[in-house]
Amino acid sequence: MSSQLSSFQNSTPKLLGRKRSPTERIVPSEEESSSGSEESVVAMVKEMDTETTEARDKLIYECRLLLERDESNTLNKEFHRRYLDSPFSHPLPPGMVALDASAPWLLYWIANGLRTMNQSWLKTETQYRIQEKVFRVNPHGGPFGGGLGQLPHLAGTYAIVNALAICDNVEGCWDKINRTSIYDWLLSLKREDGGFQTCLGVGEYDTRGIYCAISIASMLGLLTQELCENVVEFLIHCQNYEGGFGGVPHEDEAHGGYTFCAVASLAILGALDRIDVEKLTDWCSQRQYNDEKGLSGRSNKLVDVCYSFWVGGTAAILEAYGYGNCINKAELKEYILKCCQMETRPGIRDKPGTRPDFYHTNYGLLGVAITENSFQLDPRVSNSLKIDSFIINPIDNSVLEPINPVYGLPSSDLEKFYKHFK
Ligand code: FPP
Ligand code: ZN
Repeated sequence: MSSQLSSFQNSTPKLLGRKRSPTERIVPSEEESSSGSEESVVAMVKEMDTETTEARDKLIYECRLLLERDESNTLNKEFHRRYLDSPFSHPLPPGMVALDASAPWLLYWIANGLRTMNQSWLKTETQYRIQEKVFRVNPHGGPFGGGLGQLPHLAGTYAIVNALAICDNVEGCWDKINRTSIYDWLLSLKREDGGFQTCLGVGEYDTRGIYCAISIASMLGLLTQELCENVVEFLIHCQNYEGGFGGVPHEDEAHGGYTFCAVASLAILGALDRIDVEKLTDWCSQRQYNDEKGLSGRSNKLVDVCYSFWVGGTAAILEAYGYGNCINKAELKEYILKCCQMETRPGIRDKPGTRPDFYHTNYGLLGVAITENSFQLDPRVSNSLKIDSFIINPIDNSVLEPINPVYGLPSSDLEKFYKHFK
């Protein structure tokens, strides 16, 4: 047994970047234990507590109190609007200066949150300022880095393309994007195994890099066979025994973020039929917990509002492709509205006990948009175009713009941007 355990330990791959040592517990035999008494069972269960089970018990308690309240079942849009408007008129708090390399993400999260709540809440003047900033920092039109003088990065380029897509082509900004140079750069990041390095020479490669590359290329009309070589093979080997996807082939723990990236990319590449969809839908369903009603990112972890998009978006894509709906949208909406909004602060938070931020506000809003609609492919549209024109029907009183679950953008914006580059 001990040699088996040590060989398992030696072969255990890294799980999401961390190595966890397995724990071994010797259970006393019936004769040895003061067996069967209620106290001994309680003591044994208590012994199995971990930091995570304790955090979950506390979270369930807090969620229950919030979920029992009836009056907090609406999205406080005007309040969140003030939160997302503020960075366009006031400097960000000093603590956020360190996020310089994430400036493209901040632009996308904040602008997209406003746009998802109401098309007109992203003002023309703000759209103008967004594109002005993008091309001042990156005068050559891409590929894009974070702050001034930073190396081009897949995540930064993805976030900037998304941010520009919701800017209605003000100042002709869509035509300022240097597609040739972005295409050459994408090819230079491409690995033989189908992965993409996030940054030339130094970046890591996993399903996130693939999604960024495939999303950028598809939106800009750059999705060539050469760019897509081996990508599907890389992705299908990221689906593991759990049913979800890890970041890299063969050895990784399934996670909502990596799963979304893999599934959205496979949808763009028309290859969803190459994976075990039944196992994937089961895994997505298992991400939703009865007590909190929200979604977690991986087995035995806590619910977090951002997975309303990473896992909820995956579920919406599968629904659109005719595989059925695998999450309870009404319950998810309850988690977001009742547990992730605060009376005292605008914005959406990860979970009770945390504070709102721009990332969770954007993905929480996208999550609400997913719960408000059903998704279908448009049978009238030819195969290669399907991805940018889902049929999205309200199933509830919808208060948000319909969003395209593959791109995390309002579907009308995505459609216009797609057409512009076709
Ligand atoms: C673990 O976080 C999370 C990851 C290792 C990766 C998450 C990936 C995404 C959210 C997708 C990003 C998408 C793009 C387009 C770049 P954790 O351990 O803090 O959280 P957990 O406890 O919920 O797993
Ligand atoms: Zn989160």
